[in-house]
Amino acid sequence: MGADRPRRRPARGTGLSGSPTTTASDRSDGTDGEPPRRLLYGRRRGKRLRAGRQALVERRLPELGFEIDATTPGGLDPRTLFSPAVDEVWLEIGFGNGEHLTHQAEASPGIGLIGADPYLAGVARMVAHVEERRLENVRLYVDDARLLLAALADASIGRLFTLFPDPWPKARHHKRRLVCEATILEAARVLAPGGEWRLATDDMDYCRAMLRQLTGQAAFGWLAEGAEDWRRRPADWPETRYEAKAAAAGRPAVYLRFRRLSGQG
Ligand SMILES: C[S@@+](CC[C@H](N)C(=O)[O-])C[C@H]1O[C@@H](n2cnc3c(N)ncnc32)[C@H](O)[C@@H]1O
Repeated sequence: MGADRPRRRPARGTGLSGSPTTTASDRSDGTDGEPPRRLLYGRRRGKRLRAGRQALVERRLPELGFEIDATTPGGLDPRTLFSPAVDEVWLEIGFGNGEHLTHQAEASPGIGLIGADPYLAGVARMVAHVEERRLENVRLYVDDARLLLAALADASIGRLFTLFPDPWPKARHHKRRLVCEATILEAARVLAPGGEWRLATDDMDYCRAMLRQLTGQAAFGWLAEGAEDWRRRPADWPETRYEAKAAAAGRPAVYLRFRRLSGQG
């Protein structure tokens, strides 16, 4: 797996110092055999941070954040990012305001939690959660999670979370969706056999696309046995801010859990 992984160009910084808003480029999304690079469509910056939060970010983010070595794709053992040492590493892609990432880090202190999200206001909230709860098992990648996926070693992640990725509902924007064939192949590569990928969405078209693509991959097995399994959020999975807003607007969520099967793909 990963033997013919495409070469990847260096990432242009992690945004730790507040790089400018990134706009969509027409360069590779990873589906054309080229590695993903600088293809963020969402916001990187929001409103200006208040002074206290800004100071906290400047103090803590340099130690919580990390950069990737673009010269060795597939060479990052994520356990090396954590001190004290952790048994296993889980990754949340697009953690937003960090409610779920914080919950998982608190609930499982022996697990290393990596959050990847380029949105700086959300990153600042997550840094505040880490500080308030004195979490020692969180590291943050402040950029496009697909660059991080490409850097991670095979089978190095025990659990992957992609909760309410931006839905991009217009058909002409579907190619911007994060959960797509290229991401699914990378997820299959970095997830350890037996590892779990948890996804959620309130967009039924995106849900159908996720199910079509994931059930078509021999590397993944859907864990649902009945409708309640995708209608009801598992107990160890707290509600996120996006989910609460969607429910209030009459858009119920679908919760998907897939197992990385051994010996497949
Ligand atoms: C709709 S929000 C959901 C946030 C959170 N998961 C929740 O449920 O509240 C989508 C999040 O994905 C992030 N995002 C978008 N593209 C991303 C990418 N390529 N890599 C990592 N995060 C990304 C956005 O910045 C945003 O925080």
